[in-house]
Amino acid sequence: MWRHPALRPLSREHFAALLVVRDVRWAAHSGDLALIARANRELVRAWRQDLSGHFDREDRCLRPVLTAAECQELDRQHAALRAAFAQVAEVAEPDPLLALACAEALHDHARWEESTLFMALQARLSDAELAHALASLDAAGT
Ligand SMILES: [Fe+2]
Ligand SMILES: [Fe+2]
Repeated sequence: MWRHPALRPLSREHFAALLVVRDVRWAAHSGDLALIARANRELVRAWRQDLSGHFDREDRCLRPVLTAAECQELDRQHAALRAAFAQVAEVAEPDPLLALACAEALHDHARWEESTLFMALQARLSDAELAHALASLDAAGT
């Protein structure tokens, strides 16, 4: 699917997130404790280093151009995922079901943004509006 250049940095981060989801799924289904532990660590690392900032950037850059309904849905999904990642990060022992539930929610969220939210933004906003909204994407992540 075609992605507007202004949204491509976020889409690239979604792709990276989906690779982590794939590894968590693989580990959970393998039943291999070492793989599960490694996938858990990678999920927590991805959250701390990349995804928490990604969520913050989306909140700052996207919310101003969303409809009330889109904003409500983005807030709901981000809040649920922040809670899920906090739970995965807090447990002392890797919990494959907890990590898998978190990864599946992340997958569904990235798919929703790609297939629904970004498509709606591309259809509704002009090139200039999209470029303006996403102009502070890099700065907002710092
Ligand atoms: Fe998001
Ligand atoms: Fe996203």
